[in-house]
Amino acid sequence: MLTPEQIKAKKTTGEKVSMITSYDFAFARMAEAAGVDQILVGDSLANTMLGYKSTREIGMTEMLIFTAAVCRGAPNTHVVADMPYRSDKDPQTAYDNARRFMDVGASSVKIEGTPAGVIEFLRSHDIPVCAHLGLLPQTAENFKQKGKTEEEAAAIEAQAKFVDSLDCFETVLEHIPEELGTRITREVGSVTIGIGGGKFTDGHVLVMHDALGMHNGKIPPFATKFVDMYALGVEGIKKYVDSVKAGL
Ligand code: KIV
Repeated sequence: MLTPEQIKAKKTTGEKVSMITSYDFAFARMAEAAGVDQILVGDSLANTMLGYKSTREIGMTEMLIFTAAVCRGAPNTHVVADMPYRSDKDPQTAYDNARRFMDVGASSVKIEGTPAGVIEFLRSHDIPVCAHLGLLPQTAENFKQKGKTEEEAAAIEAQAKFVDSLDCFETVLEHIPEELGTRITREVGSVTIGIGGGKFTDGHVLVMHDALGMHNGKIPPFATKFVDMYALGVEGIKKYVDSVKAGL
């Protein structure tokens, strides 16, 4: 299992870092078998697994159940647990919740934005932190690209330098212009993990359900569907239904 230090070292060697979300035991096993560097138990599980419209609709109870399942399925892979909405509302609450994630086997936690004093407090208690900047689904008013204006780009760049100075070992950059993703990647010591951040970040993350085509809904413009598991699944179940009807 890669440690935060080993992940950070890849920045020096130029080896790209792969991350994919997983939410349960079976898919975590698949991700580990495929040799992914890191699994993110994203709060996107609110949408992908539970059918909610917003990631704000889940909390620590759900996140802990899914994170524990992923850790059982991928015992040799670095698992990043996503701190759900308001679980990091103040430093002590964030620490208590981060500890609960570490206790079920997570290797690090991901924090959206820069909630006051939270990252500092977690780092002072040795919790490895993956930052998340750019589009922040927990609080965003819309899902449009961020950092398009000079002012917004400068603010994201400043945040990236700030979390780097707090010793976050990596930073997810979501839905920002490629030029900004490239610039931040050059300027910070932490590993940048893009999801719609252009080609030149240190690594990339995708939502498993988008990458494997596990739903027939729209995928974000920056995601790639590598297989069509939804169609395969429907086809397989249809064959089963037909075999039952045929009395086989
Ligand atoms: O919850 C999630 O899946 C995420 C990724 C989009 C980075 O935060």
